Amino acid sequence: MNNPNIIEDFSSLVAGVDKEVPLLSGEKRRYVNLDNAATTPPFIDVINAIDTFAGWYSSVHRGTGYKSLISTKIYNQCRRVISDFVGADPDFHTVIFCHNTTDAINKICQCQCMDKNVVVLTTIMEHHSNLLPWRFCCNVDYVDLNPADGSLDLASMKDKLEFYKGRVRLVAVTGASNIAGFMPPIKEIARLAHQYGAKILVDAAQLIAHRTINMGRGDEPDHIDFLAFSAHKMYAPFGSGALIGPKECFRGGRPFIVGGGAVEIVTLDEVIWSEAPEREEAGTPNLFGALAVARAAQMLQKIGMERVAAHERHLTGLMLSLLKDIPGIKIYGDSDASLSRDRVSVIPILSERYNHALLAAILGYEWGIGVRHGCFCAQPYVVKLLNAEDPDAAQYVNQIINKDRGSLPGFVRISFGIYNTADDAEYLALALREIMKNGARFPYRLEKSAGEYFPLNSDIPLEHDFL
Ligand code: ALA
Repeated sequence: MNNPNIIEDFSSLVAGVDKEVPLLSGEKRRYVNLDNAATTPPFIDVINAIDTFAGWYSSVHRGTGYKSLISTKIYNQCRRVISDFVGADPDFHTVIFCHNTTDAINKICQCQCMDKNVVVLTTIMEHHSNLLPWRFCCNVDYVDLNPADGSLDLASMKDKLEFYKGRVRLVAVTGASNIAGFMPPIKEIARLAHQYGAKILVDAAQLIAHRTINMGRGDEPDHIDFLAFSAHKMYAPFGSGALIGPKECFRGGRPFIVGGGAVEIVTLDEVIWSEAPEREEAGTPNLFGALAVARAAQMLQKIGMERVAAHERHLTGLMLSLLKDIPGIKIYGDSDASLSRDRVSVIPILSERYNHALLAAILGYEWGIGVRHGCFCAQPYVVKLLNAEDPDAAQYVNQIINKDRGSLPGFVRISFGIYNTADDAEYLALALREIMKNGARFPYRLEKSAGEYFPLNSDIPLEHDFL
């Protein structure tokens, strides 16, 4: 079962792996989803937990009836499960449920960085959720990348920490790149940040479902201060995410969102805020979302994160070696199929023959393969990886202003989840080989304003309806 040389099959764990989809040819085939970096399908176990609990669902915190007591108990248990899953320190960290990673990072911004003297150090590798919030509230600077492959340049991080001489309050870094799969050494960065008196935020959107995370005790030099992640990337798409951070950072000032549930007392002139986590969770909590994410965490623990990582490493290595043999396909970032440097299973590619949007359309319409293309909410990083910064970047801005997305830079991104199989990787390789050799089987038109290609003469029927 745990033999590192065998690719395991976890496909029975998630909903929908056997769904057939229509192709332009009129045939149907099993959908192969290779877009897990954007959204993962739900664990069947998560859906079952939601279904079983639905009859007991009631108000959290303020109700006195039995169902409210059960609901409150479950909600509090969910926090403990998440705390345990990420190796948080219950004396030091608090677990705040939120909507997603973006929401979590904006919350940190509100509590830590609403001050123009504060410096936040982030990196060019981030997706927009870990780039934009800082820009509007404090000074932000960007750690450089290694020009050879676009991985993080740790020497640049050290130089910048040195340069700011103790003014950096927060180092905000991704745990894994959503474009190239690089995994910056977060424990090393944590130690470095703390040496310079800064805290560290790890954006774990791409890490949480793929590797063990151990935030550590608050008094350890390499502990992680803040962690943010989304449940829709960890098999629990019910609108939740979590922010884990030091309790002491959520005192003073006002919460990000103000309203009921976040207060001790309100008069017409005064308000006393609750302690975290409640003060950061104004309004009725998303109990189904919390249950889903906690149950997904338990499921991942049950499988074992080392087993998850081993499985996804196999798929990544296999995919990279297959891609290398396909004429006309170029892999970006790290293309080392032996995975001598660990990475998550996200692979950006481009084709010599087709634009990224067109290649993604052909894969979807003709082969039933779901990938994502474009910039993946990380435009500066994509432009950097493509060496398209100057003068092209200014030109792209003008194109967007003119509602022309037809020639924007981007990649086709392949990203695996625990449920993908070697067959999925091999089927994608077959499709790419065939497309590179014989081309698309159908003609397509470009819709410039969307930057998307659609079939020219026909379309596939969207025959599923749920309302
Ligand atoms: N950040 C998400 C992705 O990489 C949206 O697809």
